[in-house]
Amino acid sequence: MPKLSALGSQEEEHHRLVFWATHYDLSTPIDPSSTGLKQNLTSYGDAHFSLFMRKLFIKALGYSEDALSRPIIGVVNTYSAFNPCHANIPQMLDAVKRGVQLSGGLAIEFPTISLHESFASPTSMYLRNLMSMDTEEMIMAQPVDAVILIGGCDKTTPAQLMGGISANKPIIHLVTGPMMPGSYQGFRIGACTDCRNNWAKFRAGTIDIEDISALNEELAPTGGTCGVMGTASTMACLLVALGLMPLDSATAPAVSSARLRIAERTGTYAVTLAKTQLRPQTLLTRDSFLNAITVLQAIGGSTNAIVHLMAIINRHPTLAGTIPLSTVNSIGATTPLLVDLKPSGDNYMTDFHAAGGMVALLHELKPLLHLSARTITGKTLGEDLAQTPFRPLPFNNNRNPIIRPLTSPLYPHSSLIVFTKGNLAPGGAVLKASASKYRHLLQHRGPAIVFTSPADMASRIDDPSLPVTADSVLILQHIGPVGNPGMPEAGLIPIPRKLAAHGVEDMLRISDGRMSGTAGGTIILHVSPEAADPESVLGVVRDGDVVFCDVAQGVLGAEVSGVEIERRKEERRERGGTRGVWEARKGVRGYRGLYMREVNQAEMGADFGFLTAAGPGGW
Ligand code: FES
Repeated sequence: MPKLSALGSQEEEHHRLVFWATHYDLSTPIDPSSTGLKQNLTSYGDAHFSLFMRKLFIKALGYSEDALSRPIIGVVNTYSAFNPCHANIPQMLDAVKRGVQLSGGLAIEFPTISLHESFASPTSMYLRNLMSMDTEEMIMAQPVDAVILIGGCDKTTPAQLMGGISANKPIIHLVTGPMMPGSYQGFRIGACTDCRNNWAKFRAGTIDIEDISALNEELAPTGGTCGVMGTASTMACLLVALGLMPLDSATAPAVSSARLRIAERTGTYAVTLAKTQLRPQTLLTRDSFLNAITVLQAIGGSTNAIVHLMAIINRHPTLAGTIPLSTVNSIGATTPLLVDLKPSGDNYMTDFHAAGGMVALLHELKPLLHLSARTITGKTLGEDLAQTPFRPLPFNNNRNPIIRPLTSPLYPHSSLIVFTKGNLAPGGAVLKASASKYRHLLQHRGPAIVFTSPADMASRIDDPSLPVTADSVLILQHIGPVGNPGMPEAGLIPIPRKLAAHGVEDMLRISDGRMSGTAGGTIILHVSPEAADPESVLGVVRDGDVVFCDVAQGVLGAEVSGVEIERRKEERRERGGTRGVWEARKGVRGYRGLYMREVNQAEMGADFGFLTAAGPGGW
């Protein structure tokens, strides 16, 4: 004892020695299921020595034995100076830590990869699975009793949840929140629906260089995620529906004090989770995911969210493969679009928040929800809602203009639909029907104009001699998961300039790629199998083939006989065709090679097969 006298008071010395006598009894093996610092020990062959080493190193950071004896809350910090959607994370970290510490826990932050849509080449989706691996492995590697996953930009929250489910430590999400809208010439604008609308106007020549340059200054006027119902906002709403975030935490603006209070409260919840050890594989049930799909339909959410949800489901050991893509249709058939936000409607996330956000929406959706699904509070969704009443504003004859009642929806049902029939996409394809500008295109047939790659499209789309009319069906091949690694958001095929100049704003467009959730139009995406697959029908469609879709029937096809399709596939094989890409991926080095060899198709989530619950090879 005298040897320790220089370290503190007698009382502190006594406390320390009792602690060490209890924790360093060399005759008692360290339980592998321990909590706190004793879990996930680095392997030195002697667990007690590993703990001894861990403690001496963490003390270099100034922690006391008292602090280290508290529940340890890992806080995933995805701040990056290249990520404006995460610009408020430093402030949020302070608030999160305050919440953890006020509740008796110890918050320890650690970094993972951060992804922003415009700073992730070739596309953020290419890196989503890498981020999920980073998240999973760092949760598994470090001594955390619960984890707060701070994210926001499109691919970050799905990556974190994919990793979080696989790691299966208690998790709670905290999103950075939406940005504020900007303004131009008296009109509100915001990323990114208005980015695309105004770029289309610039291409069509209806606004000039001064307009587009001034708009560029105002479209993202604050930090935070895109301010419409794009992928980031959609995933934030789905995290609430899944029970992984508090009810009121999806919509508060990134720059608001409410966002910081949510962060503080998230810290409090995390300490409770560390004690209850409610883990995502237990919390998330089939009902949780059905609730998420119901909300997805009611908000007119991003098509990207369907890919992410499939990946997330397929990470869950008991739910993987049990909730097929067609569930989007069956739920959509009875779920109307209620939220009037761009790109399906007219408003911004700040309006949704002011109208009551997810609390108000979930109250309205109660008859369609599985209220017995559990949430991070440890209670059921129904119990959470009962404790969070929402009183509609006495506005517009008691009608909420942003969140419509079930009796007066913005769109009657199936804002998102999945094509399950027809010969063009036997593995499935998706469309945000509510974002279609010309509703007659939802049942349409027309001659195909086929572009074989984004480069081919760029070189010919505005060619005055392109034989295109407003009835043509524009098809873009080879932007799928393997053919164009990362499955880029290139599915928003622009309207050919010669048609745009005559006021054409929408055409039926089809690809095996994705599209930003902030974009609109009659655009069919995620066609599977993708064109690069030697068995793909999309890959052998040609100019002039009559292509048709019928949204009501879920049919997407090409009027090409089965015999002719097989003949074309054979011809493509003999030419080498895409077999080059399909075969050549075996010899590609690094992460790109891993991605190309392991990624599965969109209807399975474009995850790596070996990361799914089905294990190596996936499905
Ligand atoms: Fe991050 Fe849109 S770019 S949410």
